[in-house]
Amino acid sequence: MNDDTLDPTAWSPRTLAAQALGGFDPATRAVVPPVHLATTYLRDPDNQYRSGYVYGRADNATVREAEAIIAALEGAAAAMVIGSGMSAASAVFLALAPGDHVVVPGVMYWALRNWLLNDATAWGLEVTVVDMADTAAVAAALRPGRTKLVWAETPANPLWSLADIAALATLAHAAGARLAVDSTCATPLLTRPLALGADIVMHSATKYLNGHSDVIAGALATGQPDAFWARIARNRAMLGQILGPLEAYLLIRGMRTLPLRLTAACEGAMLLATRFAHHPRIAEVLYPGLPTHPGHELAKRQMRGGFGGMLSIRLRGGEPAAIAAAGRVRLWKRATSLGGVESLIEHRASIEGAGSPCPPDLLRLSVGIEDPDDLYRDLDGALSP
Ligand SMILES: Cc1ncc(COP(=O)(O)O)c(C=O)c1O
Repeated sequence: MNDDTLDPTAWSPRTLAAQALGGFDPATRAVVPPVHLATTYLRDPDNQYRSGYVYGRADNATVREAEAIIAALEGAAAAMVIGSGMSAASAVFLALAPGDHVVVPGVMYWALRNWLLNDATAWGLEVTVVDMADTAAVAAALRPGRTKLVWAETPANPLWSLADIAALATLAHAAGARLAVDSTCATPLLTRPLALGADIVMHSATKYLNGHSDVIAGALATGQPDAFWARIARNRAMLGQILGPLEAYLLIRGMRTLPLRLTAACEGAMLLATRFAHHPRIAEVLYPGLPTHPGHELAKRQMRGGFGGMLSIRLRGGEPAAIAAAGRVRLWKRATSLGGVESLIEHRASIEGAGSPCPPDLLRLSVGIEDPDDLYRDLDGALSP
């Protein structure tokens, strides 16, 4: 970043993203800053390190550029990019101490739920699972003084239930706990958790932020880089969780088009949800943009500019019909993950496995940027062969 870096308070997210905060290379005036691949940095002759860089496991200029863009989009004081969404999420929990109590949602990204219930508990965290859409249940689960973290995901995989960030922040803070929000599917453009009171926001940057299904990355952002944040940063440096510079570069390039991609995904998802809502082969469409969705009113308050590109459909014919329909699509890609330019379809229970709250008749749809009419035609044909 240099003196011409765009002021995040002066420009819209679309402008900040398109210009990657306006960064350029001062040495050559190239409009695309170089990728900094060096793992180590020269000491000055008088034994000082004045550049601000010492070693690549702790810090990297390309990584800092990606972090500055994410911080600007989230309205954060600081951001950190990490090797994956899972390493970003687990870094928050591992900055707690064994014996601490945490409250987490029953409906959430399945691998994190598995890690929390198996590995984090073995490490010493006490984990209480609640319905994060039910603030009264969260209030009852909190143990003032002992609960150190409330974790929310909104909209939450794969039912797209909404969690009320502002209400949860008030409850968590009153109990002496922090609130962290996995905002992967909302992206910084639809919801800004920090402005609503969250302490930490987390993204699987593998998804919408990068947007091209070619980078695994995670991100954290905070409004207050306090001692807890410093512990996460220290762990990243000590444990080598920093994102590689080439991945950071690709992430920066992907984020330039985030607003355009997300607008297309939201429009496509809304159109498909509306059309599939009355489809004879579909029992239920789960999408926060539909008035029938239990989180719709909250989504209208909490999400700006769209309800996201993720929806799920539940098939009348149950699991066999769902798997068969996914097997018949020609345009949709049968794959896990989400948030890329290409639309993905997934029989979600197959990947979540035993103990999953995902209904077996559910297909999860990640809507990309293709023509939504094509997406509808292809899936409609697969549903009614
Ligand atoms: C909502 C959500 N959070 C976290 C993750 C984990 O991210 P990653 O795969 O980058 O580790 C995912 C991945 O699917 C996700 O969908």
